[in-house]
Amino acid sequence: MSDLQALEAETLGAVAAAGDEAALEAVRVAALGKKGSISALLATLGKMSPDERKTAGAAINALKDKVSEALGERRTMLKERALEARLASETVDVTLPVREAAIDTGRIHPISQVMDELTAIFADLGFSIAEGPDVESDDYNFTRLNFPEGHPAREMHDTFFFAPNEAGERKLLRTHTSPVQVRTMQKTNTPPGASWIAAGQTPPIRIISPGRTYRMDSDATHTPMFHQIEGLVIDRNIHMGHLKWTLDQFIARFFELESVVTRFRPHHFPFTEPSAEMDVQCDTSGGEVKIGQGTEWSEIVGCGMVHPNVLRNCGIDPDEWQGFAFGFGVDRLGRLKYGMPDLRDMFASDTRWLAHYGFSAFAAPNPASGLS
Ligand code: DAH
Repeated sequence: MSDLQALEAETLGAVAAAGDEAALEAVRVAALGKKGSISALLATLGKMSPDERKTAGAAINALKDKVSEALGERRTMLKERALEARLASETVDVTLPVREAAIDTGRIHPISQVMDELTAIFADLGFSIAEGPDVESDDYNFTRLNFPEGHPAREMHDTFFFAPNEAGERKLLRTHTSPVQVRTMQKTNTPPGASWIAAGQTPPIRIISPGRTYRMDSDATHTPMFHQIEGLVIDRNIHMGHLKWTLDQFIARFFELESVVTRFRPHHFPFTEPSAEMDVQCDTSGGEVKIGQGTEWSEIVGCGMVHPNVLRNCGIDPDEWQGFAFGFGVDRLGRLKYGMPDLRDMFASDTRWLAHYGFSAFAAPNPASGLS
């Protein structure tokens, strides 16, 4: 075999063995590049006699053409193969089941769900939402709500107090959402732009205030942090009938019933006069509470007519305006509707519990398409 034939066999063999475009380019450079083997042979032509050049030139150029052609074919083939591999790897098999995305496995916490249900119902009844801070002053949490100084009710709330500041003022974690009543009625003393103020309002006022509340208490039906929703209506000629209708409406809608049977039981709250607790008729015989049936009663909400002292403490004239107020325990409402045995589980962050009791993010409660 001549040197030329050997070179041809070697180069074409290398072309055929190149597994990808980068390897093929290396073969091309080794043969046809500036310092390539075939380029080196072509460079020897200049030193040959015209006769030698004629035959050797034709043979070397034929080899060059052959190699160029082989390189071209191989490049096309490798390109096609790479494209096919890419298409195969990017194939979407539309017959495969859809993989569960975070949005499907994630759950809305029952408290958030109940809060959304409450706000949907009360928004439909014409209430707007007011918020207040978790850290409150003694004044808003107690004094302006007509808790006398040194009154045992202050102790009854098992309050979490902060250490007093230099001015001797002792802040606390609010024990109920009732201070938001004060903040809403008190249209003066409200720093402009403070986000927790529902907008300083003059009557008529119709607000609800959902939020976190705190008391030193922990057992199956109490957690140190819990949730309440406060309601406040101030207008002219408001009476207990308005209160009863509003609560009946709310309770029936919340439990997704046509109607419910309720009763007022006299009670005492410093900030309302008269005060009542409302019970709803229920059946507990099967081990769980079924609202809207049976002959038993379950306490569901504290309420009453806003005490004239509270109106006065908030700059509202009780001879002109009257109102009612109520306060629900949100966690308790959730337990009654969705049947969780132990309240503490609500805050244990156990994803199995959440998967069981949680709600789909797609099921946003609203009066049109339903609550739960
Ligand atoms: N603040 C009361 C509590 O935490 C609940 C309550 C009762 C709120 C009666 C009210 C009301 O607005 O009128 O126990």
